[in-house]
Amino acid sequence: MTRPIIFALPCCDNQVSALAAELDAAIGDAEVRRFPDFETYLRVLSDVRGREVVLLGSLDRPDAKILPLIFLTRALKQEGAKRVGLVAPYLAYMRQDRQFKSGEGLTSVYFASLLSRELDWLVTVDPHLHRIHDLREIYSIPTRVVHAAPAVAAWVAAHVKQPILIGPDEESEQWIGEIAKLAKAPFTVLTKVRRGDRDVQVSIPQPQLLQDRTPVLVDDIVSTAGTMIATVKHLQALKAAAPICLAVHAIFAGNAASDLTAAGAAKIVTVNTVVHPSNGIDLTAALAAAAGELLATAPLVRG
Ligand code: R5P
Repeated sequence: MTRPIIFALPCCDNQVSALAAELDAAIGDAEVRRFPDFETYLRVLSDVRGREVVLLGSLDRPDAKILPLIFLTRALKQEGAKRVGLVAPYLAYMRQDRQFKSGEGLTSVYFASLLSRELDWLVTVDPHLHRIHDLREIYSIPTRVVHAAPAVAAWVAAHVKQPILIGPDEESEQWIGEIAKLAKAPFTVLTKVRRGDRDVQVSIPQPQLLQDRTPVLVDDIVSTAGTMIATVKHLQALKAAAPICLAVHAIFAGNAASDLTAAGAAKIVTVNTVVHPSNGIDLTAALAAAAGELLATAPLVRG
């Protein structure tokens, strides 16, 4: 059987060889660049006829990435690719999954239908599921979700003495509970009130749990870092030790990472789903395993 061929989207050139090695895939070559007027030029340089194609691209800051992704997918199919699947370690547009105010766009649904029309399958890591419980509710293509919890727990167990894990809100309780169980550490979750994009108030229900422990704040996403900064400050007021801030998806909008360090985080560690200097936990092998499963399945027959 011909080996699959993997193309990196512009974010992910440094990660493609590790994924290709895990998947035993060839690395494809395409030229993707911007014209001076900001339109996208692209040209597929590798022979993809009859081959399974894997795209690697994290979808943080998605609006600038989505057209090049769609155009590359179409060009690959035009050049004869058998199927084109996407490994998107971070999947965007998962938060607006309900109309909170009349007239709001259901962007998670629109984004899912856009990707489902173009791609043949999708692999991602811990999508930010709240009111949608399964990607299949909005994606019509085969999907696989890689869970970061085992790798996060292993990092905590290996690097932190006497940890206490702290989750951002009640909705995270099950997830934090799983990490805590795997890391053999106690955990608690914050009481959180969000008043605006950057205005968050948190409190720890049982501060006595912090005694002689290293707090480890664990969240699936850090975006403005408002939640973690409010928690760091709350811990300072309680005279707890400076916390380690651990997140799966390092979105870090604007100066969020430096703001978090300035607020008093002892260390920031993230999973490598979004390329960032804080990346310290690698999920390449798990992503390759999930993509391998989908590559081994029969192609979806589109109606
Ligand atoms: C909320 O549901 C999430 O788990 C995060 O706590 C939240 O998205 C973090 O956002 P920010 O960094 O902007 O506070």
